[in-house]
Amino acid sequence: MTQSMYYGAITGWGRGIPARILTNHELEQIVDTSDEWITTRTGIRQRHILSEGESNLDIALAASKQALAQAGVEGKDLDLIIVGTCTPDFLFPSTACLLQEALGAVNAGAFDLEAACSGFIYALSVGTQFIKTGAYQRVLVLGSETVTRFIDFTDRNTCVLFGDGAGAVVVERSTEKSGLSSFKLGAYGAGGKLLNIPAGGSRTPPNAKTVQERQHFVKMQGSEVYKLAVRAMVDSSLETLEREGLTIADVDLLIPHQANIRIIEAVGKRLELDPSKVWVNIHNYGNTSSASIPISINEAIESGRLKRGMKLLVTAFGGGMTWASGLIYW
Ligand code: ACO
Repeated sequence: MTQSMYYGAITGWGRGIPARILTNHELEQIVDTSDEWITTRTGIRQRHILSEGESNLDIALAASKQALAQAGVEGKDLDLIIVGTCTPDFLFPSTACLLQEALGAVNAGAFDLEAACSGFIYALSVGTQFIKTGAYQRVLVLGSETVTRFIDFTDRNTCVLFGDGAGAVVVERSTEKSGLSSFKLGAYGAGGKLLNIPAGGSRTPPNAKTVQERQHFVKMQGSEVYKLAVRAMVDSSLETLEREGLTIADVDLLIPHQANIRIIEAVGKRLELDPSKVWVNIHNYGNTSSASIPISINEAIESGRLKRGMKLLVTAFGGGMTWASGLIYW
């Protein structure tokens, strides 16, 4: 395969976090659960959730403005906006199109990409290819999610797990080795029913019965998802490193999707990575789906944990089922 002369350097980053915090103790008042169960089984202590009147666009916009300012790029300079999301404002128009207007990105194409929690890595790999082919110079990539709007707050199996949030990065053309290099995207359609929203689409359009039966909320077979997740994240991470000609010893930091502390620890252990190289912030945010990796990138930079020149491995899995891993030259 011919090597591209361009790289997609990540020049800006930002995050949009709703102000409202929902603690485990508040959840104890809503469903039959306990802070002790949630922290020991998932690692989650609190999550940020949208307030009434807020939507995916609000947090996506906050993240995007920060990322553009950081990169010194204006909305009109963007060629493309890709929003990884499974919880958009509407079926259509896409959240990417709403964002395009809000940013004054009049020269940009815009679309949403749905790969559930793997959405950011999927979107980053797509955006980076537009840069590598020479087609585009500047792409805005987001993972932006409002899962709590699709959660049944009477179902303790799911309502304790999720939070809302957004993360954005600006990807720009560069001739220096930088940005997302090798990656592996995967899917297992046969596992779709392990994690889904049964009603509200063309298969089962919403009606009074589906609403009464709470079929428009997330349903999950947690322990099945758990087993698949660990295997998929480990295997796709190793395949990514092999494609890049690297080994796990070359990785400076792993940012895994933040779904459950036990999944994160199991992945780190199977990859034989020192725990100090595995990023964890699930205690503050819960599972923010495709936003968890870009939010983590922001925090890792601010805390000094992620520095220029490092090799960053990212890995995720989610509904679909989908999974994805990528090696980023930071
Ligand atoms: N509080 C108290 N008890 C609970 C709660 C709760 N919130 N939730 C479940 N339980 C109970 C169950 O009812 C069950 O009780 P039982 O034994 O009497 O039947 C018991 O706890 C154990 O339930 P399990 O489901 O076996 O618990 P497990 O240890 O597997 O943990 C969890 C559940 C946290 C969901 C785990 O399986 C997990 O993290 N799975 C992965 C889920 C995930 O990461 N999904 C992300 C994809 S998101 C996306 O793509 C949008």
